[in-house]
Amino acid sequence: MDDDGAPLIRSRALAGQEALMAKTTRPLDNQPNGAAIANEARPVTVPDFLSARSRGVRLTVLTAYDYPMARLLDAAGVDALLVGDSLGMVVQGHEHSLSVTVEEMIYHTRMVARAAKHSLVIADMPFMSFQVSPEQAVSNAGRLVKEGGAHAVKIEGGVRSAASIAAIARADIPVMGHIGLTPQSVRRFGGFRVQRDANQLLEDALATERAGAFGLVIECVPAELAQQITAAVTIPTIGIGAGAGCDGQVLVTYDMIGLFDDFHPRFVKQYADIGRAILQAAQAYCREVREGSFPSEEHSFR
Ligand code: KIV
Repeated sequence: MDDDGAPLIRSRALAGQEALMAKTTRPLDNQPNGAAIANEARPVTVPDFLSARSRGVRLTVLTAYDYPMARLLDAAGVDALLVGDSLGMVVQGHEHSLSVTVEEMIYHTRMVARAAKHSLVIADMPFMSFQVSPEQAVSNAGRLVKEGGAHAVKIEGGVRSAASIAAIARADIPVMGHIGLTPQSVRRFGGFRVQRDANQLLEDALATERAGAFGLVIECVPAELAQQITAAVTIPTIGIGAGAGCDGQVLVTYDMIGLFDDFHPRFVKQYADIGRAILQAAQAYCREVREGSFPSEEHSFR
């Protein structure tokens, strides 16, 4: 309680949510052409993804790994939040995503799912959570839904993952495919390289669709080839480094808000310079604490 008897610490989550709602309009109101379900205040669903192309709607997907970021992206009207296993690199600081575990994916998915009021929440199936057998894939996809609160899962690989995609879809868990530069194949590829084998990529896309996926991420594939793949399938394609001919786009949020100053791939457009803003805020805080100007009276109790 403070001096007036009012609760001093309100629920941080509740206070934040109220402030955010006050600052933002209804998520979809300002996105009449881009949102999966323009002008409707209801959560985005898998059928919304499936019908996006026929409605002429381009899909927006961004990665999220925790509650505060997911809350902001959800309020911005992003159609889907991908809890990507890229968290192995951008959150955990590894060189690749291979060490990410199912437990870690569940932990991060829970935080994102708690924040998502509008966006579809898609959780990545990490390396070795589906490669062993379709049974293993269904079991781990089920954990991401039941324990993590994911609405759908994403799985890398086309032809080689088709049996697992089919098993997951049969279990009534919506599943998205991912072809092209599949980061879990980094050892086989010998690095993170643009993928150009048109026949293989087309086979992968068709196998993913046949297996029952509701969407397909195409990563680091020449734009013209990604457009041909998009024309060959009926499910929506979501490009990253795959040009403008896909049905939607996905980016790693930390890349597009400029959190890192040492990673600028060609396919990322930087929409903000948050890294610099954080650096400057932390430097200002250190300076003011050291010189004694913070906390001032304004930030002290009487
Ligand atoms: O893990 C991830 O964030 C992804 C996207 C880059 C598509 O798979």
